[in-house]
Amino acid sequence: MAAALRALLRPGAAAAAAAARRRALLPPPPRPRPGARACSAGAPFQYIVVQKKGAKQDVGLIQLNRPQALNALCDGLMREMRQALDAFEGDPQVGAIVITGSEKAFAAGADIKEMQNKTFQQCYGGGFLADWDRVSTVRKPVIAAVNGYALGGGCELAMMCDIIYAGEKAQFGQPEILLGTIPGAGGTQRLTRAVGKSLAMEMVLTGDRISAQEAKEAGLVSKIFPVEKLLEAAISCGEKIAGNSKLVTAIAKESVNAAFETTLAEGNRTEKRLFYATFATDDRREGMTAFVEKRKAKFTDS
Ligand code: HXC
Repeated sequence: MAAALRALLRPGAAAAAAAARRRALLPPPPRPRPGARACSAGAPFQYIVVQKKGAKQDVGLIQLNRPQALNALCDGLMREMRQALDAFEGDPQVGAIVITGSEKAFAAGADIKEMQNKTFQQCYGGGFLADWDRVSTVRKPVIAAVNGYALGGGCELAMMCDIIYAGEKAQFGQPEILLGTIPGAGGTQRLTRAVGKSLAMEMVLTGDRISAQEAKEAGLVSKIFPVEKLLEAAISCGEKIAGNSKLVTAIAKESVNAAFETTLAEGNRTEKRLFYATFATDDRREGMTAFVEKRKAKFTDS
């Protein structure tokens, strides 16, 4: 029987056949390494733990899990981070993502032992740090929940996120100068935009760390929590975000990010265009209709 006819008689048969054909073309999935952990998407991970959290399982959680190295961000970890972010980005249930570490360290930086013998040619030609870029290109909101050390690449990873919540013992720093190098994943740029030139210069030129309190006063962090309450607070913020229209949330994120990438005039033009664009969505109509009808909006992410 022709595949098209089978599809007409049994809805879904064509899609199932196509999926089977695709499976047959793909190599078998890699066997999980010992000690590896599985995420909701089924990928095995060695350096991170990936879960869905929240009452509606709509918050993706990525927990750095390299305690023996204070979550130093080796290539393998950042590769897994990219894969996990890709999986959450493609998961329609997930509306926000939280990245966290341990109580002792969010991340103590890029892996110094891995970088120690790298050459310029390997860095420049080998795409060193390419996986890192994914953190700042995810369209869903990302919240960093920072306990303990966020140093060097760890501080940069937090700053790639959209919101930073800190535990009261968190410490932020860009100590690369003490290693004879400089920040390479946005530290000189994002830190300066967040805390201003004087404090950014002081941190980058001396390698001195700042406390969670100082980070909050300087505008790097939006809220501080007791150490053991931090993750719960970050997930709760993620749930609040995920409860809104995912489509309009992505538009809002894009608009705020324009403030970091363009002039005020161009940013305002971008915002206006994106604001108008929300009028092409069902969720904008539903949100305003629900207000007028005095009921809670039911967003469909469309
Ligand atoms: C590799 C690291 C590491 C790192 C810690 N470790 N930080 N390994 N890369 N960035 C390892 C240590 O070698 C040690 O393992 C274990 O973690 C525990 O660390 P200790 O130093 O023994 O712990 P403690 O005395 O509590 O001191 C904590 C610390 C210190 C203050 C955070 O570890 C530290 O200063 N780390 C380096 C911080 C840093 O310079 N970060 C910037 C990296 S450069 P072993 O097995 O040896 O005992 C960077 C560049 C980014 O991030 C540019 C682009 C991304």
